[in-house]
Amino acid sequence: MRLYLTEDANLRDSGFSSATQSLTVPRHRWYAVKEAFSPELVKHACNESNIEKGSTLFDPFSGSGTVCLSAAQNGFKAKATEVNPFLAFLGKTKLTTCTPDMFLKAYESVRLASDSDQVCELEKFSTFSSKSGRDKWLFPLKPLRAVMSGLASLEGNSSAESDLMKVALLGAVMDCCNAFKDGKCLRYKRNWAENESTRADFFDFLDHRVQMIKHDLSTDTLDASDCSIVEGDVRAQIKGLESQPFDLVLTSPPYLNSFDYSDVYRPELFLGGFVKNNDELMKLRLKTLRSHVQAKWEDPQESMFGHLYSDAFSAVTSRESSLWDRRLPLMIRAYFEDMSNLLTAVRAKSSSKCQFWIVVSTSAYAGVEIPVDLILAEMASSRGWLLKQVSVVRRLRSSSQHTLRGVSGCYDPVQLRESVVIVEADPKWNPEKGKSTLRKKGE
Ligand SMILES: C[S@@+](CC[C@H](N)C(=O)[O-])C[C@H]1O[C@@H](n2cnc3c(N)ncnc32)[C@H](O)[C@@H]1O
Repeated sequence: MRLYLTEDANLRDSGFSSATQSLTVPRHRWYAVKEAFSPELVKHACNESNIEKGSTLFDPFSGSGTVCLSAAQNGFKAKATEVNPFLAFLGKTKLTTCTPDMFLKAYESVRLASDSDQVCELEKFSTFSSKSGRDKWLFPLKPLRAVMSGLASLEGNSSAESDLMKVALLGAVMDCCNAFKDGKCLRYKRNWAENESTRADFFDFLDHRVQMIKHDLSTDTLDASDCSIVEGDVRAQIKGLESQPFDLVLTSPPYLNSFDYSDVYRPELFLGGFVKNNDELMKLRLKTLRSHVQAKWEDPQESMFGHLYSDAFSAVTSRESSLWDRRLPLMIRAYFEDMSNLLTAVRAKSSSKCQFWIVVSTSAYAGVEIPVDLILAEMASSRGWLLKQVSVVRRLRSSSQHTLRGVSGCYDPVQLRESVVIVEADPKWNPEKGKSTLRKKGE
């Protein structure tokens, strides 16, 4: 089987793999999520795979809920899973219906409650405010107190308008945050200490967000009754997931770049009460795909993921002493084991004409390229799928974590790329027999 990259003009440098386009699209724009892909990609995949209106889409790694929301906005059904409870909540909330009047009424009472300057529990927690006694803190005290009072007033209220207000409040306090999300970490803004947001800034941000949500509720009436997001680990959920057979699966899994997204969402997870303490955060980390070394997950058992995997894995292990963490080879193996199981489990729930689109980037460790896109394509071909194409979306520069840590110039930087891997259901696949030989469409 020959594997090669294509440069599909519709996908290359289209902005499909970035969140930029979402910032202007109604509902998608309610909360910026950096690792989201574009709603345009969902439309493009629906067109290209020739599915009919009413067909069912699936996204195992829902993130901010782009697939479900785009499906609802374009007349499709959809199912998704997302392990991060804040992101799952965000995705669900973007699907809710509520009249603009009900929402504004909720805003009035939350606005009153937020006026309080009451001391809140989180102000001494970790690096949340100057009261923690550390030399850096994420939130100015007044906005933190205002948001916590507003959120407290919503407690015990499970209406759509209350969920919408929670999204607006969390967005407004993150607008006041002294740090911003930058890949795997929260990076402090330049001169943050001199430029901290005030209480008035917080209310301006909140008002801006409320007006945007109100506008979209009035202009984009949505029927998302056939679209839903399940909060949880897809590896545990997929077998029992109630759904029509999937007609199109479109997803972007965590990349093999050792980012633990639950860490970057620590502020929202704690502020929103989605996790109560560090033990709960650690339990959440253990439920995420094994794409990082920040949690002590179970060791992988399998290692047969095709020739491309074997070659890359041997090359990385031969440079073991140069790796910045000795568990990286195990992480690479565990990542492909998770993706292998997913490819098989998704195939079992898919219709015979289903296409599976995977947006993913390559990685590199100790100067060795891991061609994640091609490895997944090769692996899919022995797990019930036929390869259609692996198309480059954009070329990326290699980040310093991929070269040898602390020793510059040891290995040449590796140019990374983001690609879309497109496979389609193999009609001859026999789930009883398990793995077939590697095949390409038409062979
Ligand atoms: C690249 S992001 C997906 C972004 C999404 N396409 C969007 O448009 O917002 C990958 C997501 O996978 C989620 N994730 C990681 N491990 C998971 C698991 N075991 N089950 C379900 N979701 C998981 C992460 O929390 C993260 O939100």
